[in-house]
Amino acid sequence: MAYIAPSVLSCDFANIQRDIEMLNKSQADYIHVDIMDGVFVPNISFGLPVCEAMARHATKPLDVHLMIVHPENYVEAFKKAGASIISVHYEACNHLHRNLQQIKALGIQAGVALNPHTSVSLLSEIIQDIDMVCLMSVNPGFGGQKFIENTYSKVSQLKNLIIQKNASTKIEIDGGVNAETAPKLIKAGADVLVAGSYVFGAANPTQTIAELKSL
Ligand code: DX5
Ligand code: ZN
Repeated sequence: MAYIAPSVLSCDFANIQRDIEMLNKSQADYIHVDIMDGVFVPNISFGLPVCEAMARHATKPLDVHLMIVHPENYVEAFKKAGASIISVHYEACNHLHRNLQQIKALGIQAGVALNPHTSVSLLSEIIQDIDMVCLMSVNPGFGGQKFIENTYSKVSQLKNLIIQKNASTKIEIDGGVNAETAPKLIKAGADVLVAGSYVFGAANPTQTIAELKSL
């Protein structure tokens, strides 16, 4: 059984409160919040005021995924806007160790997201400092993309690294999670599944979350 983190990138932005309340009542474990700056990724999603508005209604922890350059300039503001977990991208951090300590000093969990081309082996010297690794299983920037099959092998490699280093890091998968990919990801060692379009595009999102939770 994995933790389920529906991504509000695919919610109805004209009905954010309604959709957050649906997630509150569902079996979702986290609410995944995708922040895109139009620089690190070729898309802009939403920013601090929207995150803060979501937090006002959410009863579940906000898992904030920063797809932005210079995340160190914004982590404190996102903590104030309600984040319980903040993930920064490996590719956006010249000083990853410092960035993780900065997040932890705020009293919240620190995550690192890896683009599909980034090897998990690059985390070998820092894995013990990471609460969660977010493996991107699509190129970040958009919901509804096709799952990249190489992710399964990255999950296994990361799991091995975590065991080898005696770390307690969680493995999160982000992109293209659905009824076909989810069971294979759990089998490979995934702990947290992000799902955007699969949940919000479903006729019954609550039921879809329950189905993912039951795998
Ligand atoms: C992509 C985002 C994902 C996105 C996943 O850049 O990080 O969280 O919402 O969307 P789906 O589940 O539709 O692939
Ligand atoms: Zn995400």
